[in-house]
Amino acid sequence: MSLPPESVKIVELTRNHNRWRRFECVNLIASENTMSPLAEAAYFTDMMHRYAEGKPGRRYYQGNIFTDEVELLLMDLMSKLLKVKYVEPRPISGTVANAVVFRVLANPGDRALIAPVQAGAHVSHTKFGTLGALGIEQIELPFDLDLWNIDVDRAVKMIEEIKPKFVTLGASVYLFPHPTKEISSAAHSVGARVVHDVAHVLGLIAGGKWPNPIHEGADIATSSTHKTFPGPQGGVIFTDDEEMYKQVSKYVFPWFVSNHHLHRLPATAITAVEMMYFGEAYASQIVRNSKAFAEALAGEGFKVLAEHLGYTKSHTIVVDVRPQGGGARAAKLLEDANIIVNKNLLPWDPPEAVRDPSGIRLGTQEMTRFGMKEEDFRYLAKLIREVVVEGKDPREVRKKVVEFRKDFLEVKYGFTVPKELEDSPIKIPMLL
Ligand SMILES: Cc1ncc(COP(=O)(O)O)c(C=O)c1O
Repeated sequence: MSLPPESVKIVELTRNHNRWRRFECVNLIASENTMSPLAEAAYFTDMMHRYAEGKPGRRYYQGNIFTDEVELLLMDLMSKLLKVKYVEPRPISGTVANAVVFRVLANPGDRALIAPVQAGAHVSHTKFGTLGALGIEQIELPFDLDLWNIDVDRAVKMIEEIKPKFVTLGASVYLFPHPTKEISSAAHSVGARVVHDVAHVLGLIAGGKWPNPIHEGADIATSSTHKTFPGPQGGVIFTDDEEMYKQVSKYVFPWFVSNHHLHRLPATAITAVEMMYFGEAYASQIVRNSKAFAEALAGEGFKVLAEHLGYTKSHTIVVDVRPQGGGARAAKLLEDANIIVNKNLLPWDPPEAVRDPSGIRLGTQEMTRFGMKEEDFRYLAKLIREVVVEGKDPREVRKKVVEFRKDFLEVKYGFTVPKELEDSPIKIPMLL
């Protein structure tokens, strides 16, 4: 039977997406990345069809002889990579990791302190998202715009007064490390716990270019596995606290996860190995690229935030594009030129400005992984200026972007599929 038209259409859309985003765009979304060829091959396996509820060795389903071993290996690799004692890899996303930890630490009606939403807290930290769904009250920590960070003195007073169940650090716009040591010692003095959400910076931590919050006093860390850490989409929790690990592990399943999407496990494990070998070089290049990109954008006339602080210490750069017509306009024009960014709230925007905020957020991690260096980001800054400032036709700039991307199609800092495995059934049929 030839394929019905609906299937043809679906295949066509998928191929169009793959070609566009993988070969023709410059991807600057700060929360995304691409797996290595080996991790992709290890993702597309029979494990995606299987079930495994519970922990390795104590599953509710048979058939997990090999997945059990992979899961234990992943836990061991991640704990070595992150230099922590306990790793829980079953949350299927960063949001699910947060849900488990928040619910273990607090009951409905309890209070939690979070970084301010407009300063980059993720929606899952807030009353609009997971925290709200769990009935936990959110109170925002004070933020010092001059330091682009939590105001430590006022935050310590607030923690002492409010005595929350926990404090959440970490953010989705994360330019400079939050003051984990100071916040943890204040929190611990009133019996509160500190959860540090490192979703955005896990790859930088793995590469030794961002402080590991567990080593700085946080009680537990949550993360995605697909932002600066370039694994498959998923979540992870880690800690040095045995009691907390036991609690969290007891409730991941059955509270928030049934099956935990087993095909993530080998691909995440392969990415962990890659980070052991290449993590430092990768993370160092990300940080150098961010700095060069921010300086170049400023040189092209953009208002890049946190200039007096050196712009950023992470993969993320934030630009105030109000003079160029706002975040929604800039992000759409850039998309038309095949440069993919997201519009973003800035600290002075009201929450309701979410559809047309003042800023755009740019991340260097994915294009670094494809081999871009400082001079390439300088060129990108020029292209962005042509579209957003000079008003050139984005379709004309798109031609330059497509040409430029041709030099950056291979994932670096990772493993390819060895020749002897190329024709085996694990080969990835990616509909390219
Ligand atoms: C700080 C932070 N935490 C959690 C998440 C949620 O992660 P996920 O998309 O894996 O649920 C994000 C997503 O961007 C994030 O930025």
